[in-house]
Amino acid sequence: MKFLDLYSQDKPILNIINKDINKIIINSDFILGKKTREFEQEFARYCNSKFAIGCGNGTDALYMAIKALNLPQRSEVILPAMTWCSTLFAVIQAGLKPILVDIEKNSPTISIDEIKKKITKKTKLIILVHLYGESCKFSKLKKILKNKNIKIIEDAAQAHGSYDVSSKKKLKVGSMGDMACFSFYPGKNLGAYGDGGAIVTNNKKYYDFIVKFRNMGSKIKHEHELIGINSRLDSIQASILLNKLKYLDYFNKKRKFIAKLYNELITNKYVSKLNYSSSCVYHQYVVITSKPKKFRNYLKLNKIPFGRHYPEPLNNLKVVKKMFRNKKYKNSEILAHNGTSLPINPLLRKKDILKICNIINKFS
Ligand SMILES: Cc1ncc(COP(=O)(O)O)c(C=O)c1O
Repeated sequence: MKFLDLYSQDKPILNIINKDINKIIINSDFILGKKTREFEQEFARYCNSKFAIGCGNGTDALYMAIKALNLPQRSEVILPAMTWCSTLFAVIQAGLKPILVDIEKNSPTISIDEIKKKITKKTKLIILVHLYGESCKFSKLKKILKNKNIKIIEDAAQAHGSYDVSSKKKLKVGSMGDMACFSFYPGKNLGAYGDGGAIVTNNKKYYDFIVKFRNMGSKIKHEHELIGINSRLDSIQASILLNKLKYLDYFNKKRKFIAKLYNELITNKYVSKLNYSSSCVYHQYVVITSKPKKFRNYLKLNKIPFGRHYPEPLNNLKVVKKMFRNKKYKNSEILAHNGTSLPINPLLRKKDILKICNIINKFS
């Protein structure tokens, strides 16, 4: 049993992928080529947005989206305490001040009520992280932000294809904020065969900035309008993503099916489940126990692969610990310390899930 099995997932389309890669090699169309443009168009369409800009990875996507806003130095940026470090590092690298906010109890996403308490005159941006594939409550946030000039960036690195069930229009991840940032790291719901990322937006001004910024500030060769960086999605990764995008909804459905079985069949009183909404695309399925070490050892003993996403909230990361001294984020700490990610390989059979649930139900 595997936690994730990327090779088996892609096996049926490897022939097509290899053919496409071969064509790119024959045409030497490696950087910002035809396939990158094609993928950008398709991915924008998938996200119900006007523009997508491919880039090197999800971390760069966040950094570039923040830079596009051109906020005054030290502006305050609200983000959840529980996310992958990239969300925080992008804020710091852009010269802004991170303000951490706790997640909701038994949920992987930021607490909108807590955001409300942390908004000041200096707050210029809120980063919504759709952690584990669960969309943040965007419509609830919008009500709070009415008449405030605060931008929203979605960190959608883990949530390709998810949407906000609380919004009337069922807004898709990637179409809610001013911009949305995606990662195509291989293990993501939509993953490349190396690093990759994208920024999605409806805003032409941000689009124009990032298209240049990702390419050394240049849209036309040798004309540098900005001091940019080199963060481009190469044609080979784009062609792989184009092929895999066609199967994203199919595999998301399979993830949902696995999660449904976990929801129904795990009945152990020592193992509690998070509140996921019906729109979640389950990048991870995380359970909480009060005896996490014992639980993980038990899984290991029973040959059930597991993961941790992530072992510490941002405030406890050694490199930034000083920044958040004396700050407490109770729900984030519980999720980080007591959470364990169960196998979410979309190809797991019902029989595998039943076995996992049976074993988990015997844990004490
Ligand atoms: C929530 C979140 N944000 C940002 C990133 C960064 O993406 P990348 O690894 O492509 O730089 C990740 C990747 O794991 C992530 O999970």
